[in-house]
Amino acid sequence: METNKEFATLILPEKDPIRIPVITDNMGAKSIDIHSLRKDTGYITYDPGFVNTGSCTSGICYVNGEQGILRYRGYDIEDLVENCDFVEVAYLLIKGELPNTTERRRYAELLNKESLLHHDMQSFFRSYPFKAHPMSVLAAMSVSLSAFYPEMDDIDPELQVDLAVTRLVSKVRTIIAFIYRHMKGEDFVNPSYKYSYCENFLNMMFKSSVIEYQINPLYVKALNQLLILHADHEQNCSTTAVRLIGSSDANLYASVSAGICALWGPKHGGANQAVIEMLEFAHEQKMSAQDIVNKAKQKDSGFLLMGFGHRVYKTYDPRAKIAKRLCQEVLAESGETDPLLELAMELEEVAVNDSYFKERSLYPNVDFYTGLIFRRIGIPTNMFTCMFAMGRLPGWIAHWLEWNKDPYGKIGRPRQVYSGPYIRKVQSLNDR
Ligand code: SDX
Repeated sequence: METNKEFATLILPEKDPIRIPVITDNMGAKSIDIHSLRKDTGYITYDPGFVNTGSCTSGICYVNGEQGILRYRGYDIEDLVENCDFVEVAYLLIKGELPNTTERRRYAELLNKESLLHHDMQSFFRSYPFKAHPMSVLAAMSVSLSAFYPEMDDIDPELQVDLAVTRLVSKVRTIIAFIYRHMKGEDFVNPSYKYSYCENFLNMMFKSSVIEYQINPLYVKALNQLLILHADHEQNCSTTAVRLIGSSDANLYASVSAGICALWGPKHGGANQAVIEMLEFAHEQKMSAQDIVNKAKQKDSGFLLMGFGHRVYKTYDPRAKIAKRLCQEVLAESGETDPLLELAMELEEVAVNDSYFKERSLYPNVDFYTGLIFRRIGIPTNMFTCMFAMGRLPGWIAHWLEWNKDPYGKIGRPRQVYSGPYIRKVQSLNDR
């Protein structure tokens, strides 16, 4: 990263022109460094939705929205999906490098060791209504981990953080499986040392005492790939929430819980649930792909084509390409067709060739095909966003850790452009 070699000049009314440093990042992109603008000029910048605002420097994830590139710590997403499992990618994001054989084995052992949930936490699940949305339970359980696993005064702060990180990566998987078992009114199945991370998850979800459950290796592969696809995406809404909460020095569990809440919305991670609901509705109503696209173009319909569009990608999201391929592979295994996949592919074809979508550069995003795979694995629609959260966890953690080491380290606190009354005088109650 280069600073102070280039400057932009800002001309403001009744002030001398000022020189503002330009930062060139490691990929050659330029930013105008306005961090002392208010101090130097009295002005702030106005950028609702943070469309043009870089909130930090980060070395975790690279997204090129024009070319459809996504890399974690410099590794291309295709390369990681083909050659690593989720635990290795989690290690890469959190620790900065891919693990060697010994590190990989030790990390897997640690994750196994930390995978059980405190017995008293189990009663929490039972207090939730069966119909509670799983994301509400997940957010509550994640922050509850800070009550059950508080900081220990006698260990070094670095180790403390390491332990909290490992616990979170391991226990969130157990929590999500327990949410499902509770929803179904079934007993919890504890994790087992015999299984890998994804095998364990499938076993905790679907093991039954009355029907033998065989872990399908294709589902294990699919789950690993899906979790890798979701593992990080630089300064998206939920990661920004995690960083912002973390900037107040709130603990990791609390910060991640905020990320889970941010992810829940249908404009963000909740879109994977919304896509399947949209496809199911259209299928039931016998709507064609063209009908759905027409409705999404009507501004007053309040309807958007879910799983389409992205703040950064102005071309095909590389994760959507991988998810589409994986979806076809998983569905081909059973030899059955899925009418929803057929509708989704038709919808993609119609939308990407439609002038409304072309002019706005709207393409399928990560959420367009993933739900079809989760569904085939047996995960209920209202739990899709929990699956996104399980995948995104290493990313949130990596950003929380990076923020903690950031030498700038200031609490996140945007300014505003005030639009309220100038000043008013309180009237007595009888005169109002
Ligand atoms: C994720 O940021 C990340 O990195 C997020 C994520 C991650 O990994 O963390 O990639 C995960 O959140 C994926 C996005 C999931 N959301 C959806 O699929 C919901 C549908 N998509 C949209 O709501 C929207 O595209 C967003 C929220 C994803 C992006 O919003 P922007 O960048 O603020 O764009 P916008 O809403 O201003 O849209 C620009 C134009 C508008 O039309 P005009 O006012 O210019 O006429 O495009 C239109 C929008 O109305 N538009 C759509 C549309 N998405 C945008 N029109 C119809 N259907 C859509 N899906």
